[in-house]
Parts: sequence; structure tokens; C-alpha cells
Amino acid sequence: MNAPAIQANRNKVRHFLTLTDLSSGEFRSLINRAIELKAMQHRGEIFEPLKNKVLAMIFEKSSTRTRVSFESGMAQFGGHAIFLSPRDTQLGRGEPIQDSARVLSSMTDCLMVRTFEHEKAELLAEYSSVPVINGLTDDVHPCQLLADMQTWFEQRGDIRGKRVTWVGDGNNMCHSYMHAARLLGFKLIIACPEGFEPDEVFIDETRDAIEITQDVRTACTGSDLIVTDVWASMGQEEEQKVREQAFSDFQVTPELMALANEDALFMHCLPAHRGEEVSADVIDGRQSVVWDEAENRLHAQKALLEFLLVD
Ligand code: CP
Ligand code: NVA
Repeated sequence: MNAPAIQANRNKVRHFLTLTDLSSGEFRSLINRAIELKAMQHRGEIFEPLKNKVLAMIFEKSSTRTRVSFESGMAQFGGHAIFLSPRDTQLGRGEPIQDSARVLSSMTDCLMVRTFEHEKAELLAEYSSVPVINGLTDDVHPCQLLADMQTWFEQRGDIRGKRVTWVGDGNNMCHSYMHAARLLGFKLIIACPEGFEPDEVFIDETRDAIEITQDVRTACTGSDLIVTDVWASMGQEEEQKVREQAFSDFQVTPELMALANEDALFMHCLPAHRGEEVSADVIDGRQSVVWDEAENRLHAQKALLEFLLVD
């Protein structure tokens, strides 16, 4: 009997396409491991569990943090990372994602993808014989949440039962915060303008953990953590002007921070636009932990790579 020309990979391979690919316990273990790996790195300890392992990284959107954290992480672990962009690979000339998945996964130990449609990352995973990591899609940004939650745990301990406020667009970052709220047991208040709410699919998945409102002041009152993101995400550049108007009351300012608890933190995945979604005095102020948050991409993703690739 002839095998089908293109056959999905049926092996049991662990992927990380959304946070819900982890159990709550696994999420917590990854956070703890990331904190340990950070301490080891800061002590200058050499730890190379991925010697001779290769990560292929497909970037169909721009990146600073995701690219550098994965590349550095693989180097520090004794392995290697390859940067692939559609501009100079056959991916940009229409080679099917299924074919690319089979070829790349036959030569490497792990794939990372940053792309537009989430379905593309799913298809890559379906046809890959090695783990696939989502480095951001239009729908979710799970790697960023590993780093954000590591940052919270380092600064404040467990997040269970805390009140977290998302201010702004119901976008990929917001969706991953919704997943994190469900998995780690915090309450997420989402303050967004009408028409910019999170996607219904994510609302259905996380209903008990979230609340959605247009009242940004009430949403920030008594909050433990205030988080925001750009008003126009990658791929929405043409909507910038319309969005600036729609979101004009949703800038995180010192006045909004003052409604939160005294020891509330401020996070932003970066890159940030000072004077749009956040004022300079908040992002550069005493409650902001954005630089730890950015550095933690390195440590959290090393914990993830170890989890996926080391038996
Ligand atoms: N936060 C984040 O993912 O940053 P980059 O777009 O620079 O990778
Ligand atoms: N929501 C942003 C996150 C960037 C890291 C975007 O998708 O562009």
C-alpha cells in the first residue's frame, strides 16, 4: 500500500504553541526552574545540557528580544540556533509549510516560529518530528508570559488570588494573559475600548478567570499588577491612526497607577511607545519591572528548551 504523499507526523512530540499546552504544575515548575537558571547564569556557571543540539528559528515578523534570547539561550546551553527569514529561504517563495516542517525537523532538534496566522504554527507542529515553540502569532505570545510570570514570582511570590489589570488592546498578549490567569489562579481585569475586546474563543476558554470592562479607572483600582502593550500590533500598522483615537483614554499614567495598590508592579512586553500606551514616567518609574521582564525571556525560554529537549 502506498503511503500518502504528505503525511502528518503522528509521533507524540511535545509542542509549546499556547500556554494551555502546559498543566498548571508544569507552568509553575518552569517558572521555578527559570529562576534557578538565572541564578546559575549570574554566578557564571557553565551548564550545557543541549550540547550539539540545534534550534531552527523561523521569523516572519520582526523581533529583537525573542531572537536574541533564543540565540543566546542555545549558545549558553552548548547548542546552536539558526535564524531563518522568509526573505532568504524557500519559505518566502511558497514552499509548503508541511514540506518545510518535515525537512527542518529532520535536521534540527527544535523549531521556533514567529508568524501571523496561528494555524500556520499549528500546521508546522503537525508535520514536525521535533518540538515546535510559538515565538508569537496573531493569537498568542506564550513565551512572553513565561517571562512575565517569572518576573512576578521573583518580585512578589505566588500570583494566585492576585488582581491583574490588562489595559488596552485585546490582542495576542492579552489572550496569553487570559490563559495564565486560568492556569495560575489570578483574576484578570481587561480594560479595553469597545470593539477591541479579546477574541470570543479565548473568552470562552477563560470565563471564570477574567472580567472585561471599558472602565479603565475601576479596572486599575486595587490592582496588584498593571500590564499594557502597543495599540497597533505587528501587521496592524495601517490602523495606527484609528487606534490612537480609539485608545486615547487607555494610556497607563501615574494617575492610573495611583489607583492600584501601593506596591503594584507595571509590566510591558516591549517594544513600547512612550506617550501612547504608557507614559514615560510610568515605564521608567519605580513600579516598572520591564527590564527584568525582558531579561527573563532568556531564562524562561532556557527552562522551556530544557523541558522540551532534555529527557
Ligand atoms: N516582547 C517581544 O517579543 O519582543 P520582540 O518583538 O523584540 O521579540
Ligand atoms: N502585541 C505585539 C507584541 C509584540 C511583542 C505585537 O504582536 O506586535
